[in-house]
Amino acid sequence: QAPLLVAIDGPAGSGKSSVSRAAAERLGFGILDTGAAYRALAWAALETGTDLDDPAAVEGLMNLWAYDITLQGEQRVTVGLVGASPIDVTPAIREHSVSGQVSRVSKHPAVRERLNAMFLDIVAGSGLPGVVIEGRDITTVVAPDAPVRILMTASPEIRATRRAGELPGMTHAQVLADIEARDAKDALVVDFLNPAPGVTLVDTSDLDFEQSVQAVIDIVRAVQ
Ligand code: C5P
Repeated sequence: QAPLLVAIDGPAGSGKSSVSRAAAERLGFGILDTGAAYRALAWAALETGTDLDDPAAVEGLMNLWAYDITLQGEQRVTVGLVGASPIDVTPAIREHSVSGQVSRVSKHPAVRERLNAMFLDIVAGSGLPGVVIEGRDITTVVAPDAPVRILMTASPEIRATRRAGELPGMTHAQVLADIEARDAKDALVVDFLNPAPGVTLVDTSDLDFEQSVQAVIDIVRAVQ
């Protein structure tokens, strides 16, 4: 039986990643963080000197890489490049050097198509009762027919405050500027700020972590 899909989109710092992860764990579902794949691809492009703005070059790189991500337990992301043993890039893909460049690879439609097909393969082969998939275009492009579709938002100030807590050494103003710059670039490619028809909006601005997790679980339980 195919896993129950829970599609969650939202901007950087909305709580989407941590909330999705906790909700998935409590539901006994897997969690697929699609942003990690875009980050790992950007990491591989930077590592190999590939031009991130050249769609053919990035697609060529995708022929040479093997991507792996764990869907349950502690998240591990590994990238294998032809001729080298797989490398654990879990911390590396969160660094500023990658966050600041990732939109350059995610803007290519052909790259998105290939990653989207890969996401659906990963989910279909998971053998799990359910998978939470989170990203930017999951509710609209990757899994528009998912029984649960959620857009998680929060005000930019709240999002910057949450991210600043994760990034010691950066001021609130720097984090806010980074988030707004990345959202602006990403929003040119997909709309993750307004819910598509049938998508449930969960605004976490006034919710704490526990309340946000519970909101997701309640929505899933309603269709189970
Ligand atoms: O979710 P996260 O902030 O880790 O995503 C990193 C980047 O990956 C985003 O800034 C965006 O450029 C890209 N992304 C995307 N579509 C997705 C998930 C992430 O374009 N579904």
